[in-house]
Formats: sequence, C-alpha cells, structure tokens
Amino acid sequence: MSKVVVVTSGKGGVGKTTSTAALGAALAQLGKKVAVVDFDVGLRNLDLVMGAERRVVFDLINVIQGDAKLAQALIRDKRIENLSLLPASQTRDKDALTNEGVARVIAELREKFDFILCDSPAGIEKGATLAMHNADMAVVVTNPEVSSVRDSDRIIGMLDSKTARAERGDRIEKHLLLTRYDAARANRGEMLKVEDVLEILSIPLLGIIPESEEVLKASNVGAPVTFNSPDSSPGRAYFEAARRLTGESLPVTVPGEKRSLLGKLFGRRVA
Ligand SMILES: Nc1ncnc2c1ncn2[C@@H]1O[C@H](COP(=O)(O)OP(=O)(O)OP(=O)(O)O)[C@@H](O)[C@H]1O
Ligand SMILES: [Mg+2]
Repeated sequence: MSKVVVVTSGKGGVGKTTSTAALGAALAQLGKKVAVVDFDVGLRNLDLVMGAERRVVFDLINVIQGDAKLAQALIRDKRIENLSLLPASQTRDKDALTNEGVARVIAELREKFDFILCDSPAGIEKGATLAMHNADMAVVVTNPEVSSVRDSDRIIGMLDSKTARAERGDRIEKHLLLTRYDAARANRGEMLKVEDVLEILSIPLLGIIPESEEVLKASNVGAPVTFNSPDSSPGRAYFEAARRLTGESLPVTVPGEKRSLLGKLFGRRVA
C-alpha cells in the first residue's frame, strides 16, 4: 500500500524542503519506490536541493492542466533510480492548483510509488491545505523554539479538520520531526528541550535532526544529506526517521545526550 506523506509546518524556514529531500532519498536508499512532489508554487526549491533544477521541463501544474503526462514531468534521480521528483511550477499561478487536479495526480502517483512525499509551503494558506489534503500521514517539521511550536499546533488543527481523511471522519497520522536541534543551546536554556516540545504538541516523535553544517554543504552541491554524508549526525538521524516512517520502531537518541527516548515517544499513539 502506498503512503502519501505531507511534510508541513506552521512557521516558514524550519527545514521542510531539506527534510522532504533527505527523507525521500533515505527511503529510496532503503529500497522503497519514492516520489517527492513540490507544492511550493513560485519557489521551486525542492529541485535545487535535489540537484535537478536544470532538468525541469514540465511541472505539477502542467500535469494537472493536461499539458503533460505524469511520466513526462517526473524527473528520475541521477544517483538512484527508484527516486523521482515532480517539480513545482515557477509561473506563480497558484489558482491552477485545484483540489480535484491534485487528487487526480496523487492517485496516479499511488499506482507507481510506495511513498509520495509532498513538500508543502508553510502556514495555513491554500497551498498548504492543497498539499495536505490527500495525505495519509503528516510530518510536522518544528524547530525547538516557542514560535515554531506554537505555529505547529495550528497546523495540527488543520490536519485534523481540512484533510480528505478528516472529511471522512478518519484520522491522519501525525509525526513530529524536530529539526535544527542544538544540544549546547538547549542545555543553556536558549532553546526548548525535547520534552517541552513533546509536552506541548503531544504527537509521536519521528526523529530529532541536529543543527549541522553538513546540511548546508549538501544543499550547496544539490544532494540530500543522506546521499552526501550518510554517516554525519543529520544523515544518520534522517535515515532513522525514514526507517520509522516505514513502521520500524527504533529508540530516538537526543543529540548530545547518551540517553534515548525509547518507544515511549514514537510508540505512543496520542493522535
Ligand atoms: N539540520 C539543519 N542544520 C543546519 N541548517 C539547516 C538544517 N535544516 C535546515 N537547514 C537550513 O535552514 C534553511 C531553511 O531550510 P528549508 O528550506 O528546508 O526550510 P523550509 O521549511 O522548506 O522553508 P520554507 O518555509 O521557506 O519553504 C536552509 O538554509 C537549510 O539549509
Ligand atoms: Mg521549503
């Protein structure tokens, strides 16, 4: 059964695109057939992070409008064949994205891929609701700071009310991905601690990605960090998060600390 996963956040700039690319690549490296879809009309940044910007010919809106077949728009990754990208349009014609059109494309992607990861624009505007509408599962990307956590809470509310699953009276699975975690700053009290974030948001923890310059280096060469430096701390953390997405239950280690937060967190099904 294919899974449609929306990578979303309330606040902008928290690491959604980075995480879509890294989780998508890691899932492909684990042998899954993966499509990453860019819903951020006008910015088209997932293609840059994936190193595919010069190969974009058709995009999501072209497919919705019938100007191109899905197979013409999908860009197969140069490094691994079971990873494809469906790029966003640069036309800024956001109205061309319709619920029906998006649903049709997602249904077609479901036939070909195990995982469809949708990179969402931030916030609660139309673009974000379109990206989440067909999802089975959400990765709520949050930084350990008050404003990001507060805005994540609003997105969780949207996920529980504005998705196709919610409209059917069903639940969407929600997972927290805490990114840009800096252990030294958390210890100095300059950032929220993991427990504080979990207390406020109370959704299962998918992983903690440390703040690391490896992420920037990878993005500069157009390679997800799990390709560029798989053994770096963010590389390993993304691999573990990807394994949890496939249903594996692994303890979460807090960067900079020896202890791990066993099943207690990922396993608890509050949502
Ligand atoms: N773990 C990390 N360590 C260091 N830098 C990071 C990390 N994760 C993301 N970044 C950096 O943070 C910036 C924002 O990341 P990204 O573009 O993925 O966020 P976004 O949520 O997609 O933003 P937007 O809301 O604008 O789409 C980028 O410069 C990225 O390289
Ligand atoms: Mg982004």
